[in-house]
Amino acid sequence: MNDPDTLLDWQDGQLRSLRYGDVYFSRDSGIDETRYVFLAQNRLAERFGALRPGDRFVIGETGFGTGLNFLCTWKLWAQCAPRGARLHFASIEKHPLTREDMARALSLWPELAPQREALLRRYRQLPPGWHRFHFDPGVVLTVAVSDVAEALPQLELQADAWYLDGFAPARNPEMWSFEVLRHIGARTKPGGTFATYTAAGAVRRGLEAAGFAVERVKGHGAKREMLRGVLREASQQPDAAPWFRRPERAWTERRAIVIGGGLAGTSAAASLARRGWSVVLIERHERLAAEASGNPQGILYTRLAAQATPLRELVIGGYGHTLRLLATAALAETERSHCGLLQLAFDTEEAARQQKLLAQDFPSDFLRGVNREEASDIAGVELPFGGLYFPESGWTDPAALCRMLAAHDHIDVRLHTEALALRREGEQWAVHGPRGCIEKAPVLLLATARDTLAFESARHLPLKTIRGQISLIPETPASSRLHTVLCGEGYIAPARTGWHTLGATHKFEDVGTDVRADEHRENLAMLQTLAPPLHAALGGSALDCDTLPGRAAVRVSTPDYLPLIGPLADAQAFAGAYAALRHDARQRPDTPCPWLPGLYVSTAHGSRGLITAPLAGEILAAYLEDEPAPVSSRVMAAVHPNRFLVRALIRRER
Ligand SMILES: Cc1cc2nc3c(=O)[nH]c(=O)nc-3n(C[C@H](O)[C@H](O)[C@H](O)COP(=O)(O)OP(=O)(O)OC[C@H]3O[C@@H](n4cnc5c(N)ncnc54)[C@H](O)[C@@H]3O)c2cc1C
Ligand SMILES: C[S@@+](CC[C@H](N)C(=O)[O-])C[C@H]1O[C@@H](n2cnc3c(N)ncnc32)[C@H](O)[C@@H]1O
Repeated sequence: MNDPDTLLDWQDGQLRSLRYGDVYFSRDSGIDETRYVFLAQNRLAERFGALRPGDRFVIGETGFGTGLNFLCTWKLWAQCAPRGARLHFASIEKHPLTREDMARALSLWPELAPQREALLRRYRQLPPGWHRFHFDPGVVLTVAVSDVAEALPQLELQADAWYLDGFAPARNPEMWSFEVLRHIGARTKPGGTFATYTAAGAVRRGLEAAGFAVERVKGHGAKREMLRGVLREASQQPDAAPWFRRPERAWTERRAIVIGGGLAGTSAAASLARRGWSVVLIERHERLAAEASGNPQGILYTRLAAQATPLRELVIGGYGHTLRLLATAALAETERSHCGLLQLAFDTEEAARQQKLLAQDFPSDFLRGVNREEASDIAGVELPFGGLYFPESGWTDPAALCRMLAAHDHIDVRLHTEALALRREGEQWAVHGPRGCIEKAPVLLLATARDTLAFESARHLPLKTIRGQISLIPETPASSRLHTVLCGEGYIAPARTGWHTLGATHKFEDVGTDVRADEHRENLAMLQTLAPPLHAALGGSALDCDTLPGRAAVRVSTPDYLPLIGPLADAQAFAGAYAALRHDARQRPDTPCPWLPGLYVSTAHGSRGLITAPLAGEILAAYLEDEPAPVSSRVMAAVHPNRFLVRALIRRER
């Protein structure tokens, strides 16, 4: 991302892009123009007013800019829509503004103060990727930071209305290409509308070709004409393979059972509860987060690949989502810290990865490079390496987060309750325990980590287990100077109530949860390489590993290290339906996927559950409510449970 400061100009308090030679909006009439062009010509007041509780309205936008259109829409929504309806606003932006520029631009409109303040509280300049924001009541914003031509084909939504708001077509033609407009047509519901301030002939023709009946109407103020229109014919739907298409909704009631009270289960339950679902959350232990999600300090650890892979996109989106969740979470001071995180360049391979990331110009709010001296200053302890600094990261108590997520009127938590078998009874899933049926519901979510394999319907998932142990090291006066999380091959956090969490070991296919002295030694050896003075300050070599407290648990992962999030299919029927793939991997048989109706999974969150599990809850909610996806369609496919069934067929393993 180039430095936006050098590409923006303020003339009389009005924001102008030097890159495109155009203004974001006019100082005198910006808000009136938004209301006239986008809100009125899409008939939003009337359409919002006609919604019923539980309904959803989806708006797509090209060019998020300052967020002015979004804020005006939200304000109108608050005035006209009934309680219990939801607004999804999805916008694409290639050059996101800094928070300061956005604040300055929006300060022109005092009437938007409540919405503007809420946006600015959560907004930081966004890195490339997809970012989801929740504003209550029921207002959801998704910003895809990407070029429009790349983002649109990845946008998984059907919009009720579109705002086409690139800079002027002559100056910013890539925002108005036939291809872009065709994708917009394909992402519009039958009867859906668009509006745009321009009346350019090429734009009109492109929109007509995309399936819209286009009208030229009077433009705003001195502008002679603008365009608005309605989708005439349902255009061609995006061509997802049948195994990645969304299952039809097979239920009428918003009722679900979630099995598993860790980060994955409580996040899924919270995402559904906030959408009005009634959820029964089943956990076999006497408390939530008693297994992998039960460490005293979990860190928000990103470790981004140098290339823009789906995993990197998921991690960037999940990181921001969890940060925003924590910023609004009712957690005590001792349960979280936004103390920042340093990823130290502890060897040449790591230094090379970091250099590649730094060459990509991520916003400095997100990450920045620091040399050894700067890193030592930030950390408060002497360090042998520089590295990457994530100023907003830190640690949280995952169990406290799980309890907070599950504390909702619509979530009925059943502790000490073990699910042993799942049965399909009529249109419902019945979950059975040792004393018979525990609960029935049309939708069932498995957030049972590796024990997902205990259920017949999910036995085909290729889960891998990786034991990990943390060591709890007593704080000393010298170690209390540690101000930030340090990461290398492991991590250490500033002390929480007198104890530092130092971790964690990796032992493949070992599911023991006993605390072991030799793994304490491994953790301490890692710290000695990462921060020798801190190691000494903690009494490193003098610590007695036989008596040191710690905690061990099992991470769950997959062969491609991406989690499993989404609907489950009947594995045997799947192999029959798509047998053609065994002979030709490019086949796209039109056979519908044999889904297990209403059965979903969220597991294999590996070493990053704090980052991926809350966003996974939003992905599951998108399936269940048929909402816009919070991530791109390539990420939806990359985490889809069916990916392994497809790969097995192609490799002729099934
Ligand atoms: C040592 C260690 C350190 C880690 N450090 C970090 C970190 O710093 N940051 C980070 O982001 N991630 C970290 N992780 C990873 C993170 O903890 C996991 O990704 C996350 O906890 C996974 O959450 P989960 O809900 O999928 O699994 P779990 O927390 O294991 O939850 C699964 C739940 O399902 C319940 N369950 C299973 N079967 C049944 C059944 N049949 N009936 C009823 N209940 C059932 C279990 O009792 C359990 O409570 C670490 C992991 C380990 C092991
Ligand atoms: C007129 S401004 C949008 C104003 C905005 N709707 C608002 O409410 O402030 C146009 C926006 O389109 C963005 N843009 C230009 N070219 C783009 C591209 N190729 N892909 C995505 N966004 C682009 C610009 O960065 C700019 O923010």
